[in-house]
Amino acid sequence: MVCQPIGVLRTPFKEISDMPIQPAGAQGVYGYIELNHELVDGLTDLDGFSHVTVLYHFHHTAEVRLHVEPFLDKSSHGVFATRAPCRPNPIGLSVLRLHKVVGNLIELEGVDMMDETPLLDIKPYVPEFDLPTGPVRSGWLLEPVAPVREARSDDRFASGLQDGDD
Ligand SMILES: C[S@@+](CC[C@H](N)C(=O)[O-])C[C@H]1O[C@@H](n2cnc3c(N)ncnc32)[C@H](O)[C@@H]1O
Repeated sequence: MVCQPIGVLRTPFKEISDMPIQPAGAQGVYGYIELNHELVDGLTDLDGFSHVTVLYHFHHTAEVRLHVEPFLDKSSHGVFATRAPCRPNPIGLSVLRLHKVVGNLIELEGVDMMDETPLLDIKPYVPEFDLPTGPVRSGWLLEPVAPVREARSDDRFASGLQDGDD
């Protein structure tokens, strides 16, 4: 399987420490997608949606770990029971508010990824498709160490190299 970036995410976060850990902690934080020019036709009608789901490559994550201590707990959990970046396929998923589409640029609010993160896909967020029906359980996140809106990242999952390094 070969997956190519379709563009890049531009955000205010040049470093991994002290950034939001989810869009819920990034209200009022703006960024944008710079879509590869040859794909712009695929944006037709996207501006009718208030939110988009973006999928991207955690390009600065460290080695794969199957057990992690996530930002919101003091205990370890299986990586698939967390949103930690150090996954076998290091793919991030964020639901973001869509502000406007201008040419190949898509302005977004709620960005929780580093600047220059490679973009893999964009999908419209549709509550009728994406919101589960029936009761929802949040597992160990029922008792987080801090509210997600306040929690900030550190470099526990980061690779050695970040922007500005050679
Ligand atoms: C906990 S993940 C959640 C991302 C996404 N909302 C998800 O659930 O898949 C967000 C954290 O990943 C790290 N991160 C963000 N962008 C990254 C990138 N491009 N490479 C490696 N780590 C990144 C930062 O520590 C950030 O706070």
